[in-house]
Amino acid sequence: MLTENKKNKASTASANATDTEVPGPDAEMLPTRKRRPEVAFPRGHEEVKFGDLTLYLVEKRMGKSRRNFLSNLARSKGFCVDDALSGNVTHVVSEGNTAQDLWNWLEEQGFGETRDTHVLNISWFTESMSAGRPVPVELRHYIQNPAVDHRSCAHPSDKPESAVSPYACQRRTTLDNHNKIFTDALEVLAENMEFIGNRGPCLAFRRAASVLKSLCAPLQHLEETHRLPCLGEHSKAILEEIFECGSSSRAEDILNDERYRTMKLFSSVFGIGPKTAESWYHRGLRTFEQVLSEPSIRLNRMQTAGFLFYEDISKPVSRTEASALKIIVEEAVICVNPHATVHITGGFRRGKEFGHDVDFIIKTPEPGQEDAVLPAVIQRFKTQNILLYSDFQDSTFDLSQLPTHRFEAMDHFSKCFLILKLKREQESCEREASRDWKAVRVDLVAPPLERYAYALLGWTGSTLFERDLRRFARLERGKLLDNHALYDKATKTLLPACTEEEIFAHLGLEYIEPWQRNA
Ligand code: CTP
Ligand code: MN
Ligand code: MN
Repeated sequence: MLTENKKNKASTASANATDTEVPGPDAEMLPTRKRRPEVAFPRGHEEVKFGDLTLYLVEKRMGKSRRNFLSNLARSKGFCVDDALSGNVTHVVSEGNTAQDLWNWLEEQGFGETRDTHVLNISWFTESMSAGRPVPVELRHYIQNPAVDHRSCAHPSDKPESAVSPYACQRRTTLDNHNKIFTDALEVLAENMEFIGNRGPCLAFRRAASVLKSLCAPLQHLEETHRLPCLGEHSKAILEEIFECGSSSRAEDILNDERYRTMKLFSSVFGIGPKTAESWYHRGLRTFEQVLSEPSIRLNRMQTAGFLFYEDISKPVSRTEASALKIIVEEAVICVNPHATVHITGGFRRGKEFGHDVDFIIKTPEPGQEDAVLPAVIQRFKTQNILLYSDFQDSTFDLSQLPTHRFEAMDHFSKCFLILKLKREQESCEREASRDWKAVRVDLVAPPLERYAYALLGWTGSTLFERDLRRFARLERGKLLDNHALYDKATKTLLPACTEEEIFAHLGLEYIEPWQRNA
């Protein structure tokens, strides 16, 4: 995340020493390791050009004066260099250390494996100095932790060449999960961390589960996990227990934990996030009845609808129901704009059989038509008497405001979050004699035509797949991706795309089909 990389320019000695033995800022002959006197470039006014990276140079073996020299050289070229191994560091650079020594030292410093930090040898640094910009990190630049063999494979017993990538956007993850027994436990731990507000460990457990979901066969032995990325010691401990006992006692304890159960119950209501759920829990509330009879609690419109239709919308929506809704949405959209088309996105586009809602993206053929669609569609649902709840958000999209340097949870397109009545099939009507409809959650988004491919990619998910696409774009390609656009920091341009394939090509990624994005 961009906000994590605060520019923490640690100040060092700033003697204006010029020494003929020392190459100037543009010298490209760095790999030599002669003893150098301590030197520094004039400090204090370097312009930060690559604010998304923060380098840290390991002094061990490199030596103090060479480290100072290289740090200042990098700063003079617009790089951020931190003198301390802080949480801001994105690239650790080492020279002359064996992988074992370096990783022992990093571990002594409390350097966590789950961090998004590249650990690189000096060649990446040298090439970057020579290019005057950060060069893309390649496999050959990495100093890999010998304790974790990253050269593993999609099939646990495959050849080592087919390594599993630490980025979900470089893995093909279908719905065919061969490691459900492990991923279910890891996801319970992740969810529990999310409820506690512990985002780092939550993400680490989610990443671990995601890597296992991409494997094309069940894990057979704990040893196979040594070849997989993103599996920290906590995740491995869970897997170890499942291998030994058939289940994880930690996951089971969580499932029985009152706090977890209450948080899970409350946050299953449309409009109730972890914060509200937590505050109700701390007030001693444990059931819906208690919440609804507590006079001091005032529900907003969304939460009121969430409770009113809870019985229906807490049940999964089937693919058959999604297809029926598509026809209803299409009819409404065509009334407004006969040339507009409706496309299913979200989980159903990834091939899921059930979802918590149905997501649709509307494509309008002419620029500027997108903003009129949703208000008219909502009006039509109202006239048809099938609109149970509507939260419409008008477009705040402004091309001139791009790129956004901070990823926002919500994009700026015209969109709405709805609850609609869907006619039930005959048999189920007879069972539930009272009413002939089911309430279902529906999301609609209408981006401008030239933003369509980016919006489609963003709304297809999965959440972790999207997250890793953005992380990959930023860390590996120096580009900023969101639901609106892809921005190339080197050329300071927005990259146009009409299809998802073009976006993957811009990123130098193999194309991953929607049904392979279930990371
Ligand atoms: N999304 C988004 N902006 C929003 C809302 C959603 O980019 N304002 C994205 C989410 O990141 C996700 C996708 O749209 O990738 C679908 O969101 P959601 O319906 O919550 O999840 P699904 O993957 O469809 O899961 P489910 O089947 O449970 O609905
Ligand atoms: Mn969805
Ligand atoms: Mn949705």
